[in-house]
Amino acid sequence: MEKKTYYITTPIYYPSGNMTIGHTYTTVAADTMARFKKMQGYDTYFLTGTDEHGQKIEKKAAEQGVTPIEYVDKIVAETKELWKLMDIQYDDFIRTTEERHMKIVQKIFRKFYEQGDIYKAEYEGMYCTPCESFWTPTQLADKDGVKVCPDCGRPCQPMREESYFFRMSKYQDWLIDYIETHPDFIQPAKRANEMLTNFLRPGLQDLCVSRTSVKWGVPVDFDEKHTVYVWIDALSNYITALGYGTDHDELYQKYWPADVHLVGKEIVRFHTIYWPIMLHALGLPLPKQVFGHGWLLFGADRMSKSKGNVVYPEPIVARYGVDPLRYYLMREMPFGADGNYTNESFLTRMNADLANDLGNLVSRTVAMIEKYFGGEVPAATEAVDPEVDLPLQQHCAALPALVNDQMDKLQFSQALTEIWKVIGECNKYIDVTQPWVLGKDPEKRDRLANVMRNLAECVRFTAVLIGPTMPYTPARIFAQLGVEDPELQSWDSLGAFGKIPAGTKVHKGEALFPRIDVNKELEALSGGAKEEKKEEKKEKAPEKKPEKKHEEPEYPAEISIDEFFRCKIQAARVLECEKVEKSSKLLKFRLSLGKDGERTVVSGIQKYYDPEKLVGRQVAVITNLKSAKLAGIESQGMILSALNEEDGALHLVSLEEGTEDGAIIG
Ligand code: MSP
Repeated sequence: MEKKTYYITTPIYYPSGNMTIGHTYTTVAADTMARFKKMQGYDTYFLTGTDEHGQKIEKKAAEQGVTPIEYVDKIVAETKELWKLMDIQYDDFIRTTEERHMKIVQKIFRKFYEQGDIYKAEYEGMYCTPCESFWTPTQLADKDGVKVCPDCGRPCQPMREESYFFRMSKYQDWLIDYIETHPDFIQPAKRANEMLTNFLRPGLQDLCVSRTSVKWGVPVDFDEKHTVYVWIDALSNYITALGYGTDHDELYQKYWPADVHLVGKEIVRFHTIYWPIMLHALGLPLPKQVFGHGWLLFGADRMSKSKGNVVYPEPIVARYGVDPLRYYLMREMPFGADGNYTNESFLTRMNADLANDLGNLVSRTVAMIEKYFGGEVPAATEAVDPEVDLPLQQHCAALPALVNDQMDKLQFSQALTEIWKVIGECNKYIDVTQPWVLGKDPEKRDRLANVMRNLAECVRFTAVLIGPTMPYTPARIFAQLGVEDPELQSWDSLGAFGKIPAGTKVHKGEALFPRIDVNKELEALSGGAKEEKKEEKKEKAPEKKPEKKHEEPEYPAEISIDEFFRCKIQAARVLECEKVEKSSKLLKFRLSLGKDGERTVVSGIQKYYDPEKLVGRQVAVITNLKSAKLAGIESQGMILSALNEEDGALHLVSLEEGTEDGAIIG
């Protein structure tokens, strides 16, 4: 049976400067999706490239005293380097300056002209002489009541130029009907409404599609003083790259129509109005979907070189590797919505999601299998606790379908959230099953075996499912887990839970994602990642203050016993425990100190514990600590816990059974 095909594209980017984290965002999204489909057995095709023509490039090259092609060649080479660094596996990289593209653009333009879709007329507009640019009335900026060039801010003059125009209006009703009857065509759906309300229903203007004043472009072959300008040139890339219109159009036959064009929201209009009309005029089917994603902002602003607030991926990758950045980009904001890039949010995610949640789960699982079973995944036994084991097994078994549902909607962040729910559940499963207690009792060995198997299998599922987003991490996890068989690393192997073979030899390795010191890293990054930041940025988008962390105290070499006894440490029973509203860190405890009464303590351990599970447990508390307000709540003491340096896991200090509530510890 022939494999199902999947064709995905990014916009072709302007090589007017180096690619930023914003361009990287779209490209990583496309790569993640292509990898996901490939993993599922689709015959995928992933296209990206560069849009190299036009006045802006012409100007930039002139400024640097090089030819346009010399200028773009350098940036294109650097772009390809960046995609290699990000482990982007595109199938083709199209450049609009390539002959294979230009020839077909000419053919398309001629066909439009011959069938009457394009006509020649005078173009009337406002002209900016220094920029050599025409602007329509709506494009012009307003400066103290004067219409000025939106690029340079200088006044424009009325001017006429001979141009070719595309009769967009002819196709307007057809397109309205198409969009209304194909609700999946434009996603997210609100963007379809924007197109209908703002552009289509008010009536389409005919589009100017050639220039005589711009030379850096595809010449109109039947009227050489004209250059194709510029969307007909750019949009055609999605089919010229497949060999459309040539004698070798096998790829076109196989992959067109595209399954999805990923684009930033600012170019949805071109992809959902001009492009469908062009395709329809050519008698070709439309792409199945155009997805307009949101912007990655920096501070409150869209990143732009002119604003000087650009973030480049290279310094981030150099310091932390590719996978954390790819993970962050796909996880931080829902695909479709805008989001802010900050170094702090990146570093916080690295610690919380990667070091704590995922990294800990893998290292704890492997370490425990080493400790209790000599490093071999044990065989399944009869000692099942259905109430504890089945929910985890069922949740994990359902995970591939949950991830698939989200990925089909291009909801990368939600797909990762689903995976992280299972990771979180595994970490709780460890707390509940308490393998360290089972390990002490030889009679509980069978039970411990199942606990270890369940964890190892969940780790295997996780490793497979994060692969499209984080291409390097699965291999590192499989190496620690001892899963070498490629079949067990595949999507297909996730059809049933429990496949990890007994006897699989685990190998404890380095921490996958060592915990980082956020404050220190913030400092280090502010040198590299924001090298283009201008002074003024500070006022516009003040960086959030780094979170204040408890510094490790400088311990004196020794203290007297009296000094120690100044601390009143008591055993306390958790009566109530709940998350503090609007805080992702704090838990609020109501504690009983037996005959010493009750008190409230707030503790920053939310991410390590499920509050419900702590109720009834005994903890150790410093009770004569000066009270402090945390998130508006008066905290009367401090709960003692230990933080592992290596894997970042946190453990509450616990007391032996029989300790009275309120008993003094010391
Ligand atoms: N050349 C046109 C596209 C032609 S497609 C037939 C173009 N190029 S561009 O270099 O300006 O790239 C814009 C695209 O880059 C956006 O649509 C988006 O995919 C990506 N992004 C660039 N900066 C971005 C952000 N800050 N945030 C999100 N996406 C960003 O437009």
